[in-house]
Amino acid sequence: MTESHTRTFPPDFVWGSATASYQIEGGVREGGRTPSIWDTFSHTPGKVLAGDTGDVACDHYHRVTEDLDLMAGLGLNAYRFSVSWSRVQPTGRGPAVQSGLDFYRDLADGLLERGITPVLTLYHWDLPQELEDAGGWPERETALRFADYAHLVGEALGDRVQMWTTLNEPWCSSSLGYGSGVHAPGRTEPESVLRSAHHLNLGHGLATQALRSVLPAGGQVSITLNPAAVRPRSDSAADVNAARRIDALQNRIYTGPLLQGAYPEDLLQDTARVSDWSFVKDGDTRIIHQPLDSLGINYYCPTLVSATAPGKAATRNDGHGASAHSPWVACDDIEFHQYPGPLTEMGWSIDPTGLTELLMRFHREAPGLPLYITENGAAFDDKPDANGAVHDPDRISYVHGHLAAVHQAMEQGADVRGYFLWSLLDNFEWAYGYSKRFGMVHVDFDSLQRTPKSSAQWYSGVIKNGELPAQV
Ligand code: FCB
Repeated sequence: MTESHTRTFPPDFVWGSATASYQIEGGVREGGRTPSIWDTFSHTPGKVLAGDTGDVACDHYHRVTEDLDLMAGLGLNAYRFSVSWSRVQPTGRGPAVQSGLDFYRDLADGLLERGITPVLTLYHWDLPQELEDAGGWPERETALRFADYAHLVGEALGDRVQMWTTLNEPWCSSSLGYGSGVHAPGRTEPESVLRSAHHLNLGHGLATQALRSVLPAGGQVSITLNPAAVRPRSDSAADVNAARRIDALQNRIYTGPLLQGAYPEDLLQDTARVSDWSFVKDGDTRIIHQPLDSLGINYYCPTLVSATAPGKAATRNDGHGASAHSPWVACDDIEFHQYPGPLTEMGWSIDPTGLTELLMRFHREAPGLPLYITENGAAFDDKPDANGAVHDPDRISYVHGHLAAVHQAMEQGADVRGYFLWSLLDNFEWAYGYSKRFGMVHVDFDSLQRTPKSSAQWYSGVIKNGELPAQV
């Protein structure tokens, strides 16, 4: 991408990178950890490409010091990681185990010693299997369990971690986990999509209360969403209505109760033939509607939809894996389209304008709420050359374009405080296993050797200068 001018970011802009527990840790049977839904799912034949599992992943559990030094070498200001629930509270109930808490306490200390701010996510999709066996997120009880777990972790780590995120992308947990079934636990039950979305929202609200009761002054609580930048394929009334319905199911089902304290009327009507929403109890939306210190936004590509005849919608590969079941409730008359033009290795279109669009939307709809890009990045088929170096100009260009899009939104008034590149390391990309590489650091999954790619050097320069060069 060519731009005519250098873009300077504010001196206190947070430059980070992100990972998630199941995608990098390995060590799945150590320190008393019990299986999560992703252990079970990845060990179920046919669920993950090539039968890959997170048993070893990047072996981060045993290589924390090396990874911390890597981050320090790149000059990161912040590191967003997630806690494996069943590592600190095996089975999802009862007291925390010390070894689990110690692992994350040491990680936080290692970050602080290197001048890197720890940004902790409590839940990045790895529900303890025992809680799924008891019904999982479609059951209200899971939200109560989540609040207890938040309390335990908050109490143990609140003295060294200031930035807390309750959930990562609840849309994926509910719609891919219980709708299309391409993610753990792999259930395909339309009403469970809505029930789990509500209980994730409730879990967020209860966990926020729990965190606020234990965190010292200065503790900040956030949630990370993956809002869709959804666009109708034409301006026909039918296509515009299709976009409205998808916006309700991916965006407003979360932002409604979180930011406004109510589920949108149109969402309730659109989904009435699947559920009467009687699982929403009196007072729930008040619990969900807690003040937030910031909002995390994960963005990869925009969503393009059109209306079609009922039942005609093609089976959709939503970018996280193909399924005969839809993650979209009551939407068999809506079709999804791929944008023409450059695509990443995931088949996701490269279009930074969607990011500016989303940031401006939140700027308008949630005035005064600081925003962070908690994930943005791209998979490409990166391979070491004869000298072992890994050159990834496509990733540099992708990140360049998206950072410019963030900067544009900031110029128009959006209060964006930081950017976390997904991901630090190549890792276990859910249903795609190790076949998709998102890291700015290459991982050889046989030797587990880490090699910073050219994008890591480039990003490091951006961080050092606080400036996006005009050209990549
Ligand atoms: C997001 C997930 C993250 C990673 C990226 C590519 O939806 O939060 O774990 O898989 O997609």
